[in-house]
Amino acid sequence: MELAIADLDATAIYKLMVGSIQPRPIAWVCTRNHQGVLNLAPFSFFTLVSVNPPIVAFAPLRKPDGSEKDTVLNLQECPEFTLNIVSHRVVEAMNKTSAPLARGDSEVGFAGLSTTPSLAVLPPRIAQAQIHFECRLRDLQRFGDEPMAGRLVLGDIIQVHVADELYDQGRIRTEKLDAVGRMAGNTYSTTRDTFDIDRPG
Ligand SMILES: Cc1cc2nc3c(=O)[nH]c(=O)nc-3n(C[C@H](O)[C@H](O)[C@H](O)COP(=O)(O)O)c2cc1C
Repeated sequence: MELAIADLDATAIYKLMVGSIQPRPIAWVCTRNHQGVLNLAPFSFFTLVSVNPPIVAFAPLRKPDGSEKDTVLNLQECPEFTLNIVSHRVVEAMNKTSAPLARGDSEVGFAGLSTTPSLAVLPPRIAQAQIHFECRLRDLQRFGDEPMAGRLVLGDIIQVHVADELYDQGRIRTEKLDAVGRMAGNTYSTTRDTFDIDRPG
């Protein structure tokens, strides 16, 4: 099948991309508006883009009506966020936080979650997550104003919290973290079926 992007609408492109780029890790991002109302939302367009300095990237798309997501609006008011890692045990709560609540309503309470203060940024961490990154906004790039146009959020990680039971001499005990990934639609993957392969050289 040959598919020229010029012949496809945004929904068709979305379906092709999320079906091809799998599994995607999930950034569970907490931001704050200037009145102190928290927003919490999952983003699977997410990766690490630099180690030295440590920088994460995630991408909130414009909503189907073309409006900006609360995460982006909040970052314009308070340029800090926490990025919480999603384990299997919090996946139901994570899903609830993708609900399109009004801007003044927080997904934290709505999903039955609670927060813990951060050390270096204003948005708090999600207490039920086991790894948290405190981040400062480095850059926010915009790729147009159409529905589903992306915004690339780049954040410097300035503080990391790891639950003691996951931490082993500088490494993460990934089998205990039990992270999940997003596939397409309502489908997720676990990290339970892993294998090793030797590197060449
Ligand atoms: C697992 C999961 C991953 C998601 N990933 C993205 C994403 O990468 N980009 C995006 O714009 N929306 C994504 N969404 C939808 C947002 O979480 C949802 O629109 C949420 O309400 C964010 O909007 P807000 O910033 O206005 O709260 C995802 C939803 C789920 C359940």
